[in-house]
Formats: sequence, C-alpha cells, structure tokens
Amino acid sequence: MTNQLNQTEAYSKIDISTILPPSTIGILGGGQLGRMMALKARELGYRIITLDPTEDCPCSHVADAQILAEYNDLEGAKQLAQQVDVITYEFENIGANIAAHLEAESFLPQGYDLLYKTQNRLREKRAIEEAGGKVAPYLPILSPDDLVQGVKQFGYPAVLKTTEGGYDGKGQLVLRQEEDLKEGQALVQSGNTEWILEKWVPFAKEISVIVARNAGGEVKAFPVSENIHQDNILHLSIVPARIDLDVEQKANQLAIQLAQSFHLVGLLAIEMFLLEDGQIYVNEMAPRPHNSGHYTQQGCRTSQFEQHIRAVCNLPLGDVELLQPTVMVNILGQHLEPVLQQMSQLDPTCKVHLYGKKEAQKNRKMGHLNVMAESVEEALKKIDALHIWNMEDTKS
Ligand SMILES: Nc1ncnc2c1ncn2[C@@H]1O[C@H](COP(=O)(O)OP(=O)(O)O)[C@@H](O)[C@H]1O
Ligand SMILES: [Mg+2]
Repeated sequence: MTNQLNQTEAYSKIDISTILPPSTIGILGGGQLGRMMALKARELGYRIITLDPTEDCPCSHVADAQILAEYNDLEGAKQLAQQVDVITYEFENIGANIAAHLEAESFLPQGYDLLYKTQNRLREKRAIEEAGGKVAPYLPILSPDDLVQGVKQFGYPAVLKTTEGGYDGKGQLVLRQEEDLKEGQALVQSGNTEWILEKWVPFAKEISVIVARNAGGEVKAFPVSENIHQDNILHLSIVPARIDLDVEQKANQLAIQLAQSFHLVGLLAIEMFLLEDGQIYVNEMAPRPHNSGHYTQQGCRTSQFEQHIRAVCNLPLGDVELLQPTVMVNILGQHLEPVLQQMSQLDPTCKVHLYGKKEAQKNRKMGHLNVMAESVEEALKKIDALHIWNMEDTKS
C-alpha cells in the first residue's frame, strides 16, 4: 500500500494536471455510465472508487471499492475526496456544496461551472446562446398567467418543461391545444419547481455530437449520431447519421465551438434538432458520456468512455475515426428476456452490453446492442430480424 501511494505521488508530480495510472479515479454515481467509464479506466491501469447510495449498483461490480452514500451526503463526498487522486461524475444533479468541497479538497478537472449551467434548462439555453448556438424560442414560466402569454406568443404545440431534474421526457408536458392549458397551469401552480416553455420545433431529425476536450486544450468531436426516440426514450443511434456531409460538418463545428467557449474538460454530449432547411438548434447538453455515444464502443477507434477518462486525466485524446457503420439499440426492461433468449444465435457483428442490473422493469435501461454492417440500412435490417423491437420508425 505504501509503495502504491509513493508511486502515485511520484507520477502525479510529472505534470500537475496529468493523472497517470495507477492513480485512483473517483466516480460520483455508480450507474451504467460509471460502469462503462470504470471498465475503460481499468484497461488503462487506473483504480476506481465509486460513490453511490445503492449496494450492487452497476459500477460496483467493476470498481475497486464503493462508498455507500447519497450523492448529496457531504460526509460521503469527503471520504471520496480523501481516497482518490481525481474525481469525475456520471450525472448532473450534484449540489453546489458538494462540488465546492470536491474542488477544494480533491481534484475535479471538469470544474463546476459547466455542470451548474447544464443543471438548469434556462441557464443552459442562455449559455448556448452566449456561445453562439441557436436554441428553440423559450420563456421562463413563473405563473399560470405566464403560460397563457407564452402559448399566445408561440402557438400550439408548445412544450412545458421543468427547468431542473428532467430526463427521458419526464417533467414535460406537450400543449397541443387550448384544452391542455389547464393541465399546464395546474403544474405551474403546484409551485414545486420552476418551468420553461419552448416553442415546438418541427425538426427533420434529432442528432447529437459528443465532443471531448482536455485541460491542455486538445479538442475532438465524434461522428454525428442520428437518434430515434420512442416514448421520449432513446431507441436507436444510427451512425453515420443519414444527413448531408455539410450538415455533419456544421454539427461537428458547432460542438467544437461550444466546447471551446465553455473551456470544457471531459466530454460534452450535445443533443440537436436538425430542421428541414439545414438549420441546427441545440436542444440540451450533458457534460458526461451519453447514451447516444454508446455506438463508439464498437464504431470508433476510441470509445466515448475511454475519451472521457483521457480528457479528465489530461492524456492525449484518442482517434475518433468511425471504423464502420454502427447502429446502437437500447435494451430496456421489456427487451432483456428476448435478447437473452437469442444471445447464443446472435450474429457476431452484434455486440451485447449489459449493465448488470437485477430488476428488469419496463423502460429501465438494462443494456444495449451495437450492430455493425456495411451500411446502416443493413444494420437496421439485422436488428429488425430479431423481432424484439418495433422498428416502424426507422425510415430516413
Ligand atoms: N421544443 C421541442 N420541439 C419538438 N420536440 C421537442 C422539443 N423539446 C423536446 N422535444 C422532444 O422531446 C424529447 C425529450 O426532450 P428533452 O428536452 O431532450 O428532454 P429529456 O431531458 O427528457 O431528454 C426530445 O428528444 C424531442 O424528441
Ligand atoms: Mg434529451
């Protein structure tokens, strides 16, 4: 143990911001993103301690140790800070007090600024606009009357969203007609949270870009993913996206522009709406690996998880070249059993990733499948032939 500490100390003196193996990385959050980060970090020779309130969480199976604590538990955060050389996170809902402590007592190269911005849709949209990105027209909604004024301005449909804590379409209401106003007003009236109203964007496609930047300023964007949602949950990521080359380049450039403007360290996943006329609106951002980047595990020379670890540890970024067309399909609770039944007959170009979660509840993300082929059309056909998912909505 003494040897190990000495070695870590010796390595960390090489460059103050470069964290070399076998240093210990602390991961706040122990879900599937933490697990896949930890797997890549281990390949590189790092040690991992995860902090998560759930025993047997997905990351616990591959981490060296787990601190069992709530994410907002300062004592837990203190323990983590003491035991690791660098800290990263796999989710956004970290309180300011915890982040401040981690920054003071440990090394949080990603900082708190961008995390703070992305925790709240209003702050996020303002930050995107300041960085030169476009967003759908929006208004803060503080009262039922604001909502009436808002839909007058935007027309129907419009989307009412909580400013904080929403995911997979939770905390959202689409107002399609005047009759929906009452429901929206009741939500706003309940006073538990703040709201924002967005004008409906009649997008042609949803796409996303994952961009990485290290403290040294090196920046690389992964190929654009075309994303298809079902019930507001990501269903498919299709790469290369079925878009024109100039749109691909524009989306990549926008991602790099945002990364540089935010002085990003780590990964930033940027969800975008592509309009019929080629305009791109930024929908939302997450400063971490993202479900729509899972395709990189097989599709690219470097996966988003390795890139994240490299960026946070200030190592040179890996090559982001797309090696072959790849489609990622999510395995939700209801898909797990059929996937397991077919596992022994799966085509070798279908790579299964499961997160080790015991309870397969409906719509819970249990794993994903990365399917490679000569073209995305062929990959989609292979997924369709498994008869596990409803593939009606995959037409370009
Ligand atoms: N302004 C909008 N116009 C059209 N569709 C939208 C709009 N906002 C959200 N959506 C749809 O709802 C989905 C979920 O919304 P999003 O803001 O990404 O929230 P979440 O945090 O739940 O992912 C989006 O992927 C998109 O399909
Ligand atoms: Mg989203």
